[in-house]
Amino acid sequence: MKIAVAGTGYVGLVTGVCLAEKGHTVSCVDIDERKVSLMNSGVSPIYEPGLQELMGKNMEKLHFTTNYQEAYRDADVIFIGVGTPEKQDGSANLAYVYSAAEQIAQCIEKDCVVVIKSTVPVGTNDKIEDFIKSHLAHPVNVYVASNPEFLSQGTAVRDTLYTSRIVIGVEEPIAGDTLQEVYKDFKAPVIVTNRKSAEMIKYASNDFLALKISFINEIANLCEIIGANVDDVALGMGYDSRIGNRFLNSGIGYGGSCFPKDTKALHWLANFHDYELKTIKAAIDVNENQKLKLIKKSRKYFDSLKGVNVAVLGLTFKPGTDDLREAPSLVNIPLMIEDGANVKAWDPVGINNFKKIQPENITYCESIEDTLEEADICFIFTEWDEVKDFDLSKYSKLMRKPIVLDGRNCYDLSSARKANIIYDSIGRETINSLETTLVNR
Ligand code: UGA
Repeated sequence: MKIAVAGTGYVGLVTGVCLAEKGHTVSCVDIDERKVSLMNSGVSPIYEPGLQELMGKNMEKLHFTTNYQEAYRDADVIFIGVGTPEKQDGSANLAYVYSAAEQIAQCIEKDCVVVIKSTVPVGTNDKIEDFIKSHLAHPVNVYVASNPEFLSQGTAVRDTLYTSRIVIGVEEPIAGDTLQEVYKDFKAPVIVTNRKSAEMIKYASNDFLALKISFINEIANLCEIIGANVDDVALGMGYDSRIGNRFLNSGIGYGGSCFPKDTKALHWLANFHDYELKTIKAAIDVNENQKLKLIKKSRKYFDSLKGVNVAVLGLTFKPGTDDLREAPSLVNIPLMIEDGANVKAWDPVGINNFKKIQPENITYCESIEDTLEEADICFIFTEWDEVKDFDLSKYSKLMRKPIVLDGRNCYDLSSARKANIIYDSIGRETINSLETTLVNR
């Protein structure tokens, strides 16, 4: 079976590489020549654990090209895995999907199944099929199938090779049979449904997880007010298998390229159909506020951050990725700088990307120790292992005023009680284990 993949971002590249690992020959198409030559030399253009190794192992079955005519002409299956960024109004921008669809329509010379992996609004698969059919350069049969992905950044390869489920949305059995053949060596439940249901499964899954996070964040906020401990609350809830113990980590909100975009897109779609998705709206609103939680907490310690030495640990939206999209650091650091803070920041892989957005007014550090040196307050935005493993007692040794605001609950409270610091985290009691009172506040 000859497979082509349009787009070599997280979705496209990981899909292509994992299909090659399962024995398929895959041509990955991208418009960016620099990226294509990088991939042809065996280098992954994105940071994703295990991806480069798997690419290297399967280079004989993988082809990277900008020449889409060649890749699509005689393909049996073409996956579309291009980006669907958010537009100003919250709806999904489908320009890249349509551009790939147009190229496919112009090039295919034999019957083929076009599979949309990108997250697209419900109804898009139908429209793309009509679009391709009306733009065909050759008289062939085309079937469009929806096949959403459920990979998370940082664990994308594992999530794809050992996927929780394979969702196939089709209108014609022939397209379903072809996709079952593509996935025959994957061990996962297969759900075959119509295209709209498949599209909805993707949005409903992501939005439910976003809602779960916003729910626990609201509970955390209330725990702080009434003196409960959200970590214990989540633990106690999670033992109920109907609730489950995952995605109950409270913090400074969800980021990334999926939850913020997909919640807004589904809310927008419902509005468009004169229906208000109240739960999703609440998840979005809670998340916007939650992102500013640490900055608000900092007001307890400083009226303003003017002249204050601020240490920031973690820039990316979560550990295991260099992606900054919708990361809390992006809204918080500009506010600190605007306030007049002297900001030092550390991240194991996100600094180069952050420098492109914020090249000035910030000192980028190579180590946690350098970042904390002489700091008056520390903000933890990402729960990197390096932060979780960092000896808590070092905060008071390195910082001028050891005030630690932890947006990801990296440390347990019993350790904080022994660390000679002020430790203010999410949904838990604030610990003040300082041996002496802070001066010059
Ligand atoms: C998410 C979904 O988890 C995937 O299943 C889905 O395929 C993907 O979107 C997608 O649509 O492509 P991802 O955005 O990579 O994956 O990251 P997650 O691990 O889900 O984390 C998203 C955000 O939620 C992060 O900012 C993370 O810090 C936050 N989060 C997650 C919490 O605040 N608490 C939690 O308990 C879990």
